[in-house]
Amino acid sequence: MEPLIHKVCLLTFLVVFDATSSVADLSLIVPPDPVVASAGDDIILPCHLSPQSSAVAMDIRWFKEGDFTNPLYLYKSRTGEEGEGYKGRVSLFTQELERGNLSLLLKNVKVSDRGRYKCQASHLDWIQEPAVALQVTIIPSLVIRAGQCYRSP
Ligand SMILES: *[C@@H]1O[C@H](CO)[C@@H](O)[C@H](O)[C@H]1NC(C)=O
Repeated sequence: MEPLIHKVCLLTFLVVFDATSSVADLSLIVPPDPVVASAGDDIILPCHLSPQSSAVAMDIRWFKEGDFTNPLYLYKSRTGEEGEGYKGRVSLFTQELERGNLSLLLKNVKVSDRGRYKCQASHLDWIQEPAVALQVTIIPSLVIRAGQCYRSP
């Protein structure tokens, strides 16, 4: 009898341990360096779960730092929604969510888009929101053309 009880206890322990460790041990990873883009570019703000784990059942909110209530993109109850003012410019890579990839596609970047963006994911008691910086420069050819203008006699 005793060995069986031990086995049941061990099994229970393993199941409970596994359930608590699986989400709690997850980290959201964003690049430490800014994403650099030119105005008009389509860019990706990278963000992924480590160790690799599905994000399909999580709530995901991409928002500009300090603007939590007006997110670029909201994914909740397995449904994605573009934020006000970002319609047609933002999306997640739906098929990548299963692989824990929460990266945001931001199309036609504007100079006013520069700033810090938070990739927030939550599930039950677990929540993380690391920030990634976006730098937007004006189109280089425009700068060169302006320079040539000044130099011509
Ligand atoms: C996430 O998906 C994007 C778009 O497909 C891709 O460029 C990027 O490399 C992916 N990141 C990871 C960590 O797989």
